[in-house]
Amino acid sequence: MATGNAFDVVVIGAGPGGYIAAIRAAQLGFSTACIDEWKNEKGGPAPGGTCTNVGCIPSKALLQSSENFEDAGHHFADHGIGMANLTIDVAKMMARKKTVVKQNNDGIIYLFKKNKVRFFHGRGSFVKKGEDGYEIAVAGTRAEALTARHVIVATGSNPRALPGAAFDEKAILSNDGALAIDHVPKTLGIVGSGVIGLEMGSVWRRLGAEVTILEALPAFLGAVDTQIAVEAHKAFARQGLRIVLGVKITGVDSHGEGVSVAYTDAAGSAQTLACEKLIVSIGRVPNTIGLGAGAVGLALDERGFVTVDDDCKTNLEDVWAIGDVVRGPMLAHKAEEEGVAVAERIAGQKPHVDFNTVPWVIYTSPEIAWVGQTEQQLKAAGRDYRAGTFPFMANGRARALGDTTGMVKVLADAKTDEILGVHMIGPMVSELIAEAGVAMEFRASAEDIGRICHAHPSLSEATKEAALAVDKRALNF
Ligand code: FAD
Ligand code: NAI
Repeated sequence: MATGNAFDVVVIGAGPGGYIAAIRAAQLGFSTACIDEWKNEKGGPAPGGTCTNVGCIPSKALLQSSENFEDAGHHFADHGIGMANLTIDVAKMMARKKTVVKQNNDGIIYLFKKNKVRFFHGRGSFVKKGEDGYEIAVAGTRAEALTARHVIVATGSNPRALPGAAFDEKAILSNDGALAIDHVPKTLGIVGSGVIGLEMGSVWRRLGAEVTILEALPAFLGAVDTQIAVEAHKAFARQGLRIVLGVKITGVDSHGEGVSVAYTDAAGSAQTLACEKLIVSIGRVPNTIGLGAGAVGLALDERGFVTVDDDCKTNLEDVWAIGDVVRGPMLAHKAEEEGVAVAERIAGQKPHVDFNTVPWVIYTSPEIAWVGQTEQQLKAAGRDYRAGTFPFMANGRARALGDTTGMVKVLADAKTDEILGVHMIGPMVSELIAEAGVAMEFRASAEDIGRICHAHPSLSEATKEAALAVDKRALNF
């Protein structure tokens, strides 16, 4: 039990990694505290981190609003629904987004109370290691001093800026500003065609902005299975998202009228993109600002990540680190899995997090989702595999929905038929990918999925059919 401010476990950061770690530690019987400095508009606590405040949750709220707008403007007519004088009230859309964010902030505060996690609002920093454990100072509305037997660092990440183009969140926007634009810009430039660039580009294009994305790499979505990436590139081009590959940004000039981005294109010619606003989404950097890592000798790597082993152990005894501040994909669910696993390790259990079964989802339309290895990775590894694909065009539910873009692709070992990767592009694949994750966790074969009875008509039948297609016996294609 906690005596005063002495705890078994103190978690620094209440993003998806930290708050989940704190809840799991409390469930396991540890006296637990969680410290987070995020402030809402009124200066009050806003637990949930990047994910809840300026990441996963608000971006999905805006993606939903803008998709509804696009459907109403372009697709409802197919159903015989007339939509004259369609308008978008950006202020109302943003107010709804704020409500969704607040519901999530409040939900975490409720969960802390329910699980008896003590929450401290303010910045937590290491002071020193004392006889009773680590001393941690909290600088908030009230200064507090805590001691902890175990510390979990879950301080997340911050957006990476282009050199010489600091974020002002008015013209040059990080994810923070991109989620809070107060009107539809006529022209929107985006640097980086990764996950944020594509999701935010989709939101503002659907609402009427002319969007140009400048990407340094010559290939589009290089980490995605190539067949899926090619399909995605075609779909986005059809929608009017302009994606320029192989650019080198040479300068960014922000002036009263907007922003000019100078770049050389893939052919080496100098070009300029003039836009009202510019989103820079070129990846994120680990956040250890103000953590006091130096005070206790917590090791960081050359890129600023907290150094951890496979079990999220740092170089310091009883100090762990999870989520975006350590190696591995920067995903909320990866942070959560690490949080649960660390709490269980502190309790002496032996959990395991398998990065190979961490799903990825890009919430564009069509959605893109995958788990496991891509075809190009299997080829590079010299793995003998078989592939089965099934297009949504041949799926009854997709036809009824009026959204037949894309496909499901299953990759399985040629000999054992074990599923090695599942790749999807199309309607609601963010939900369909869970079945593939379950199958891979249980080391299922493609035939296993092919033999499971799937409801008809459902989009999930496309997964079953792609699994059957591995053995060249799809029934509906
Ligand atoms: P964070 O969520 O960054 O939380 C860290 C918390 O620690 C913050 O609240 C911070 O204020 C606090 N903190 C930092 N230092 C201190 C300190 N010294 N004292 C006290 N508090 C401190 N991932 C997905 O899986 N799906 C998505 O759809 C998705 N969409 C995204 C959309 C956008 C626009 C962005 C930017 C990211 C998105 N992500 C998504 C990534 C996801 O948000 C991160 O991977 C996730 O938030 C990482 O969780 P975390 O707990 O490690 O860190
Ligand atoms: P990202 O890593 O997904 O994409 C960055 C892109 O910018 C890459 O394509 C890269 O080649 C390009 N780039 C880098 N430097 C450049 C330069 N100087 N000029 C032009 N292009 C350049 O990073 P992003 O989009 O910033 O997102 C950060 C992280 O947040 C993601 O890696 C992801 O983990 C997470 N995220 C997850 C989401 C989801 O799960 N749906 C949604 C949004 C973010």
